[in-house]
Amino acid sequence: MSTTASPLSQPLRLPNGQILPNRIAKASMEESLADDDFLPGEKMIRLYKRWGQGGAGLLLTGNAMVDPYALTGPGNVIVRDNGSLDRFKRWAEAGKSGGSKFWMQINHPGRQVFSYISETPVAPSAVKVHIPGRMFAKVFGTPRALSEDEIRKIIERFIQAALIAEKAGFDGVEVHAAHGYLLNQFLSPLTNLREDQWGGSLENRARILIEIVNGIQARTKKEFSVGVKLNSADFQGGGFREEDAIQVVQMLNKTNIDLLEISGGNYESPAMQGGESNGTRKREAYFLEFAKKARSTAKMPLMSTGGFRSKNVMEDAVAGGALDVIGIAAPFAFEPDSAFQLLSGKTNSVDVKIPNLSNPAFNSLSKMSAIRLQLRRIGQGQEPKLPKSLIGNLILDQIRSRRNAKRYKKFLKILEFQNAFKKPADTKD
Ligand SMILES: Cc1cc2nc3c(=O)[nH]c(=O)nc-3n(C[C@H](O)[C@H](O)[C@H](O)COP(=O)(O)O)c2cc1C
Repeated sequence: MSTTASPLSQPLRLPNGQILPNRIAKASMEESLADDDFLPGEKMIRLYKRWGQGGAGLLLTGNAMVDPYALTGPGNVIVRDNGSLDRFKRWAEAGKSGGSKFWMQINHPGRQVFSYISETPVAPSAVKVHIPGRMFAKVFGTPRALSEDEIRKIIERFIQAALIAEKAGFDGVEVHAAHGYLLNQFLSPLTNLREDQWGGSLENRARILIEIVNGIQARTKKEFSVGVKLNSADFQGGGFREEDAIQVVQMLNKTNIDLLEISGGNYESPAMQGGESNGTRKREAYFLEFAKKARSTAKMPLMSTGGFRSKNVMEDAVAGGALDVIGIAAPFAFEPDSAFQLLSGKTNSVDVKIPNLSNPAFNSLSKMSAIRLQLRRIGQGQEPKLPKSLIGNLILDQIRSRRNAKRYKKFLKILEFQNAFKKPADTKD
């Protein structure tokens, strides 16, 4: 097989001039590997050094939190500066060590916070996550609707996180507006019931995303890339639809972003895992059909993540012009050099083989835990290996999360104590 002829091996010049060495991106996977102070430490560095040598043109971090009071998971990195910049610098160096471009994904979870982390998260409106089944009834708390002033502060937090990423040496940021997190909640009419300038029309619902993107671009250098991860749809009746996504692409055209990553779904309808049925999803490359539709509207390079496994499907998507970058997530947990293997012709597919469990909820949760285990193993200097028992591993993962949540609550108490002794103008955290 010829390697040079593969469209995946071709470099890509982004609108701001940054060059991705090839068309394969390691998509975001929440690492749950932050140190006790919720900063990147040795395990994280080891994991990204390994991925940094894995041949991807673009590496995206797992979602890093812009607000210490809002975490998607209790082992995440909280982006902050005062005295912590060196830790972010080491993280950036690790990811870039093999020549990949390295971007930080920045996120705010909004209502999608487990109640053992926070019982009253914030969201556009007080609409709780609803997952069918009694066992999920208390998993999420009812959120509190954000005030206008709080929305402004969140916009500033996203911008500050991007400025810290830039100072630390990351090549760019990706603003997470997909998967049912805060910015996606603003976009969806099911979760945004506001009647002010942040709700109602799609233009109002997209205002927070556009202000964040404009704010980051205005305050970072031109060479620092800005990408957005957007749902093609939420796959829920009355939710964010493909027609809406196309209109948001039109709005993003005006901002000149460097890359748009297309995904789909949320915690209630997890299309990003290939779990729920929807019109456009296929067994492989779930969001490719939408990408083809978006292509004629989108002025920026397009990437899509979700189910890409075979090299020929990836090559067709790039050669046919539907996509510029192929996002791959789970396979990188088992084969950290998945990109190198595909590009060198060592393999023609990067399938992930985790046995299925009969209960769909447990199946999905146990798969996520098995993938997270691989990230931890690599972070500890071990080789990826499936656990002997998927359920046993899920239970251990849950215990670990509860332990991390306790750590987090202690961390918040210290933060509140510190803030109590700051002048009001200093209280950024
Ligand atoms: C363990 C795990 C953690 C994830 N964390 C994130 C995340 O932090 N941000 C994000 O945008 N997507 C996240 N995802 C979703 C992936 O980026 C991707 O959209 C999804 O896994 C489908 O791609 P794949 O079929 O190549 O795995 C995560 C997926 C997994 C398996």
